Amino acid sequence: MIHEQLERFPKKFLWGSASAAYQVEGAWNEDGKGPSVWDVYSKIPGTTYKGTNGDVAVDHYHRYKEDVALMAEMGLKAYRFSIAWSRIFPEGRGEINERGLRFYDDLINELLKYDIEPIITIYHWDVPQALMDAYGGWESRQIIDDFNDYCIALFKRFGDRVKYWVTLNEQNVFIGLGYRLGIHPPGVKDLKRMYEANHVASLANAKAIQSFRRYVPNGKIGPSFAYSPNYPFSCHPDDVLAAENAEDYSSHWWLDVYCWGRYPAAVWNYLEKRNLTPTVLEGDMALLTYGRPDFIGINYYRTTTVERNPLDGVGEGTMNTTGKKGTSTESGVPGLFKTKRNPHLEATNWDWEIDPTGLRIGLRKITSRYALPILITENGLGEFDEVREDGTIHDDYRIEYLRAHIEACRQAISDGVDLLGYCTWSFTDILSWLNGYQKRYGFVYVNRDELDEKDLSRTKKKSFDWYKRVIATNGETL
Ligand code: BG6
Repeated sequence: MIHEQLERFPKKFLWGSASAAYQVEGAWNEDGKGPSVWDVYSKIPGTTYKGTNGDVAVDHYHRYKEDVALMAEMGLKAYRFSIAWSRIFPEGRGEINERGLRFYDDLINELLKYDIEPIITIYHWDVPQALMDAYGGWESRQIIDDFNDYCIALFKRFGDRVKYWVTLNEQNVFIGLGYRLGIHPPGVKDLKRMYEANHVASLANAKAIQSFRRYVPNGKIGPSFAYSPNYPFSCHPDDVLAAENAEDYSSHWWLDVYCWGRYPAAVWNYLEKRNLTPTVLEGDMALLTYGRPDFIGINYYRTTTVERNPLDGVGEGTMNTTGKKGTSTESGVPGLFKTKRNPHLEATNWDWEIDPTGLRIGLRKITSRYALPILITENGLGEFDEVREDGTIHDDYRIEYLRAHIEACRQAISDGVDLLGYCTWSFTDILSWLNGYQKRYGFVYVNRDELDEKDLSRTKKKSFDWYKRVIATNGETL
């Protein structure tokens, strides 16, 4: 669709930025916090890049006032952050840790002081280790009630001040990497267990949304989904079908459940023949339909290009976690699809293809299929940054990436997408789960690396002033 004139961004558009507790906070065992699975898993040799962990991360727990002051200086309208479950319930359930609640109270109040809309992510991958030890975390239905109790504690405490809530961050990623590829906790490679755990997580998501309606009736809630729209590699019908397979398998398996409370038929059949479908008990599907969200949170980084994959074709590939371009390999699901490099797109040093139009396509697809508002909960560029001798950081590549994606948002709005806001990933630099500190995303450079915490000082990058202007002009000046 080519527009003669583009719509403007809505007046109350949420120009934001996002983070996750484990990736920024540090203070992993302070003020009564219990360990999460990541606190334990990241200390197993060989699990993360150069053995990095979130013990200190970028020390946001102690420096949140400095970070929020920088957000205020930028004019940020919204800040999406996650709550560490094991700060609130050190054992995952049972007794509440008041000091944990107080930290987030202080953070929320600090944000509100500067008119920055807090957006809470309830769960960003850090299940309390105690629940993993007690019953295997997401593999047990017991977690549905424990998660619900945790959610209710947050709704009661913060529901008066926080309007926007994200339930689960990227269920497709934490389940896929945790139980299929075995590179996130609990480090399992078992598809049957994966689909069972995933179904439990979907039920927990729906139940939390059901509770939200009672405790925060005027709020808005939805999950954040890692969405990578799929393109066919060629117009050969077999490749087009492969792209349909990939959409059902990699996206609709979650999104249809969130929005419609049902699984896509073709993938259900594929999995059923392989005895991989989850156990569905009476009442499950009804609960899932109650979980329809108010908006879909989209984390968008890239598209995926696929072609036909025979039954004896390619399976899992390897990810590039080093920043050495070209080290990731093809991957696929036999009988459904396999990935191909898209010759029309440039890729980052971590082999993520850069595709702003793909964002517009994704926003359009979701709007047409689910007719819900969308909040972009993450979008950004992970790259090496260089500090020049004079201390400045000229991240023009990041500005270019963000500019093109914001332009795509405006195009999508002009197409008819109801877009609530756009959160970049991330505000300060963060710890990337598997990629250490060298893969940087922030507007604010944090002085540390994998081997040395240094002084953790904050320096504004060139992109900081650029985004400040974007916000000040409500997206008119890119
Ligand atoms: C999303 C996550 O998957 O992408 C973030 O929600 C993550 O937590 C981000 O950091 C970027 O991924 P990565 O692997 O580059 O850190």
